[in-house]
Amino acid sequence: MMNQLYQSPAEIASFAKPQAEPETKALLNQAVADLSVAHSILHQVHWYMRGHGFLVWHPKMDEYMEELDSYLDEMSERLITLGGAPFSTLKEFSDNSQLKEVPGDYSLSMDAQLGRVVEVFRYLVGLFQQGLDVTDKEGDDVTNDIFNGAKASLEKHIWMLQAELGQAPGL
Ligand SMILES: [Fe+2]
Repeated sequence: MMNQLYQSPAEIASFAKPQAEPETKALLNQAVADLSVAHSILHQVHWYMRGHGFLVWHPKMDEYMEELDSYLDEMSERLITLGGAPFSTLKEFSDNSQLKEVPGDYSLSMDAQLGRVVEVFRYLVGLFQQGLDVTDKEGDDVTNDIFNGAKASLEKHIWMLQAELGQAPGL
């Protein structure tokens, strides 16, 4: 008798990811809003920073923005793949983000500017942890993987920024 190479459609259906993942989709869209506003905050830090370390930290903000943009695109497209609709206007990003923006201020010290970046990254790490929790609960390993990678990278950035500020990571 030949080995059965393929599962029956009914068996495949029993392994299929559930179509309804309400919390995963909501979390992904929250990340879309927050990553968009986080980009804006990092751009402000990039422009308004003054003081020793500028030549290092100014270009570092470009790297951080590029990284956040890659998460933004990946999470938006994952949301679309799951049948959702990502926020896509500046107003939607601003209205739905939990991150608070303030006008640029040249008088902030370099430490204060970097502290602001740590604050933003800590918020995102907390959000991505929630993403890990809901994707575990709803059984979405693919989205879980996206949140996991993003969280690991931001935690490493927090360590390095905190080291620059003379502090423990505090994660
Ligand atoms: Fe620039």
